[in-house]
Amino acid sequence: METKEQKIERLLHLKKERNAIILAHFYQDGEIQDIADFIGDSLALSQFAQNVKEDVILFAGVNFMAETAKILNPGKIVIVPDLDAGCSLADSAEPAAFAKWRQEYPDAVLVTYINTTAEIKALSDIICTSSNAEKIVSSIPEDKLILFAPDKFLGSYIKQKTNREMVLWNGSCQVHEMFSEDKVLTLKVEHPDAIVLAHPECPPNILKHADIIGSTTKIINYAVTSENDKFIILTEPGVIHEMKKHAPDKTYLDVPNIDGCSCNECPYMRLNTIDKMIAALENLEPQIHLDEELRLRALLPIKKMLELS
Ligand code: 13P
Ligand code: SF4
Repeated sequence: METKEQKIERLLHLKKERNAIILAHFYQDGEIQDIADFIGDSLALSQFAQNVKEDVILFAGVNFMAETAKILNPGKIVIVPDLDAGCSLADSAEPAAFAKWRQEYPDAVLVTYINTTAEIKALSDIICTSSNAEKIVSSIPEDKLILFAPDKFLGSYIKQKTNREMVLWNGSCQVHEMFSEDKVLTLKVEHPDAIVLAHPECPPNILKHADIIGSTTKIINYAVTSENDKFIILTEPGVIHEMKKHAPDKTYLDVPNIDGCSCNECPYMRLNTIDKMIAALENLEPQIHLDEELRLRALLPIKKMLELS
């Protein structure tokens, strides 16, 4: 039986043989984050992916992230550990219904969250992530109506921050919408000295209890650099690995969801394993393939975002 250490050694050997680089999102298991060459939020991963020089990108995240890497750096072989690693937000935007919705507002500017498929990006005017959504929305001329998709909670948070007229697509993240307000309140009472850190994919009844709202990078940086030493974490608990790496003596409290279990893990992110990463490097499969015409259409709104970021 191969030990975990031997498996990791094999994976790193294969990575070298394939001239590959491993990118991972902060929601991945700690052991995957530890072997990645680069870890980040969705914006940082896109920025990094477009400049990768190696032949192969092994992307430990969810499909829309790997697809974005392929859109930005089409000459590279982009492989993923598990093609079933989707996202409930991306799934909420079915292309035909989405195109129909877009056509109902021909003069509006469509701002689309990066958590979408290439088809949906191709229908959009500009892409955003949780770390730049406010900036992107604010960059749109005041007289323009804004369509925001697919996350209604991120959209309503940005609408409130920017005071802009916005029509929201009815999508949500199945992980962030499950946080229990009761549990947040109980934890706040039990730990009055804790700072509440929340991702803007949480619904308004959760966000109203947060001290800091932001992307995974913003949440992690705040926890690591702030003078406080106790935090209630209202996002996927994968972020706690990076927090503990840089500030091991602080206390991080994750919040059980509505069902009462401590299981706010993204089921898609957590499909990825070391074994599947080894298999992906061995077979150069599953691989992201994109029609070139679609890629070019999806590239335009991503480029616009990157220019503004
Ligand atoms: P970040 O861009 O903050 O990493 O968020 C990605 C995501 O999928 C959150 O659920
Ligand atoms: Fe998608 Fe939610 Fe998972 Fe993020 S946490 S990848 S938004 S399902």
